[in-house]
Amino acid sequence: MEPREFFIEDRLERFRLNAFCNLGESGLAHFLLEEVMDMAQISWKDLAKIPMNDSPNQGSLALREAVAALYPGVRPEQVLITTGTGEALYLAFHVALPPKAKAALIWPAFQALYEIPKMLGAEIIQVPHERAFLASTWKEIQADLYIINHPHNPTGKTFSESEWNSLLTHFKEQKKKVLFDEHYRFLPGAGSLGRTGVDPIHSLYGTGSFTKCFGVTGLRVGWLVAEESFLKRARSFKDYLTHTVSPISERMALGLLKSKESFLPKIQTRVRENIRMFDSVWKDLPHTKSFTAPAGGLVGWLELESGISSEVYADKLFEKTGVFVLPGINFEEEGYLRIGFGEREERMKEGLLRWRACTDLI
Ligand SMILES: Cc1ncc(COP(=O)(O)O)c(C=O)c1O
Repeated sequence: MEPREFFIEDRLERFRLNAFCNLGESGLAHFLLEEVMDMAQISWKDLAKIPMNDSPNQGSLALREAVAALYPGVRPEQVLITTGTGEALYLAFHVALPPKAKAALIWPAFQALYEIPKMLGAEIIQVPHERAFLASTWKEIQADLYIINHPHNPTGKTFSESEWNSLLTHFKEQKKKVLFDEHYRFLPGAGSLGRTGVDPIHSLYGTGSFTKCFGVTGLRVGWLVAEESFLKRARSFKDYLTHTVSPISERMALGLLKSKESFLPKIQTRVRENIRMFDSVWKDLPHTKSFTAPAGGLVGWLELESGISSEVYADKLFEKTGVFVLPGINFEEEGYLRIGFGEREERMKEGLLRWRACTDLI
């Protein structure tokens, strides 16, 4: 079996490097290597001394310790370092899903979250985002695996404190198997680190990364957190795929995690300011209908007036203004645009001015 085309990728490949204002990506605008080294407090001399052997298959102990410290009660033995969250998800689905499994997830979704389970023969239960952030919704669903992406891509939604507590209690009491995709955990709506549902002894597993939130997607580092026997199987599977992660990426990742308090508040301020800016102008953008400001993460879901093709809208917008957004149809949902909030503030401001002035879009 082979997964279908990854619908967002064609457009991302075409526009992400040449858009004047990039609201199409779900990551923070990238930093340069010299900036990343500064953030990670690594000198050129440190870089030059990195031994270029294979990293340990599970990831270096120092990096696994730094990742484990992000989760209450998690030990480094329960962490597997992977090539991006994409690989962590791929491995987790292969190990977690029995034949003919049922997998429930919030809809619409980042395609890998359902395309890989589908490829493995799973039946997908789509849980509409309008109801998915209520614990009661999940209590009615019988599935072999619950896939919870929070803050959510593409809507930017997340759970309230009371719904979250009720959801976790339910999953634990009913001994459910859950995979939390917490890719945007470093960008909560408020505070410095978002909540996690990961609790390996209760089969609540998770994938994570900081690459989108820190503006370093090119590092290609992610992780899987799970109980040891699950993790051992995932590691063995990984030996056939990427095997190990580059020691350069691992060293940078360690430096970034250790010194995140020195640069993350500035990033969080930028993203929150971009969201505030967009929320104050979206009603003036042509043919838009509704928008709820994201409660966390880097993306939001803008509804268009009915009958408009999201693809035509996105194409015309790029052509006329250089503003790049992703059409909802790439998430298999017509009538929406996904808006990213990781662009530099000045470009975001200018992009929105151009978009607003573009009255002949449709
Ligand atoms: C929710 C979610 N999970 C996983 C991924 C894959 O991340 P990575 O680039 O680390 O492979 C993405 C990327 O956009 C995402 O949005």
